[in-house]
Amino acid sequence: MDHFQLRNGELFAEDVPLARIADEVGTPVYVYSRATFERHARVFREGLAGLDRKPHIAFAVKSNPNLAVLSLLGREGYGADVVSGGEMARAIAAGIPAADIVFSGVGKTARELAAGLDERIGQFNIESEEEGVELAQIAAEMGLKAPCALRVNPDIDAGTHEKISTGKKDNKFGVPIDRAGEIYARLAALPGLDMRGLAVHIGSQLSELAPLEAAFLRLGELLGDIRAGGDSVTHMDLGGGLGVPYKKGEVFPSPADYGAMVARVTRGWDATLMFEPGRVIAGNAGVLLTRVIRVKRNANRDPFVIVDAAMNDLARPSLYGAWHDFDAVRPNGARMVANIVGPICETGDTFATGREIDAVGPGDLAVFRTAGAYGATMASSYNSRGFVAEVMVDGEEFAVVADRILPEAITAAERVPDFLKR
Ligand code: LLP
Repeated sequence: MDHFQLRNGELFAEDVPLARIADEVGTPVYVYSRATFERHARVFREGLAGLDRKPHIAFAVKSNPNLAVLSLLGREGYGADVVSGGEMARAIAAGIPAADIVFSGVGKTARELAAGLDERIGQFNIESEEEGVELAQIAAEMGLKAPCALRVNPDIDAGTHEKISTGKKDNKFGVPIDRAGEIYARLAALPGLDMRGLAVHIGSQLSELAPLEAAFLRLGELLGDIRAGGDSVTHMDLGGGLGVPYKKGEVFPSPADYGAMVARVTRGWDATLMFEPGRVIAGNAGVLLTRVIRVKRNANRDPFVIVDAAMNDLARPSLYGAWHDFDAVRPNGARMVANIVGPICETGDTFATGREIDAVGPGDLAVFRTAGAYGATMASSYNSRGFVAEVMVDGEEFAVVADRILPEAITAAERVPDFLKR
């Protein structure tokens, strides 16, 4: 359930007509709903109510790193799953306690590891033995012990898009499960590390629970082996990955279904479970509001609806062939079949091909739905288009939570060196 609904034939974000935001902030613009974020955060937490212990839930910052979003989720008691020094700094700036921050990622630099130690973050998810050894050394030099989980690659096909699958043995993530026990033991012996757990994340936008269940079962066996070997395991990080519907009518496993599966599989683990949801919290809490520039016809059967948003603003369709529902802000009841494209000079700048949509014409407003996760954060300034503004709605109020960054501001950071002027 989200709070982007039609009222008297016009699309609203909570109690604010989207047309008002377009008038005041311009388009394209990402619009987030506070109530939807909060609802998703609570529904996910409630889905985990049947666990033996209170879980630790860390929002995957990569899905939507906006400070207002992080601050909202921090107030809901969420920690942060970060994958760079930049994300860590944002989470802290948003008021999320360092103790609730989990640092994942295969390429943490020595500087980032040291920054995490400096901040006393709650957990490092180590992705290789090499990284563990390096972290141990840095921590020891600082007179600290780094709290760590070892990320395991369970060699499971998540059944999702190959670019967002992370748990197959050929992927770069985690350590191979058949070597995880020995690596854990070696790292646990290092004075700079406090090895306290295992972590797994097999991919994103999962439409089935079975691959997750299979991964958790493997992790559970490993937990037993490690404890039998004499090392302690107190935390089990089960990652994120739960998918969301992008098309009207699609049905996905609910957080309650997910929670029930997790409770069943992890019964008796005697460990604190940790989660890193991103999309399921943020996806349907945001839309990308855009205006139709013009409609043109080529040789194709279907016209091109050219909108002012492009692949640089919302990369998912061009990158993964992803579907985002497209709905008119003031639908007139008529329908049309069209190709929806942006202004960028690439054929890949296509949001939809031969799709039946609300009939729209020049000047009309429309939204791409389910753009709250992996939307604004994946933007670029390709074609010197600048970065889109972001707005958060709260009931009848709204605020710009990220300014539009104009092309001029980007150019201002560039310079022509003297040697080109001679
Ligand atoms: N934890 C780890 C270690 C991750 O790598 C990810 C996502 C998450 C948690 C959050 O996963 P989620 O709950 O959001 O599925 N840009 C792509 C998605 C990339 C996901 C990367 N990792 C997209 O637009 O679909």
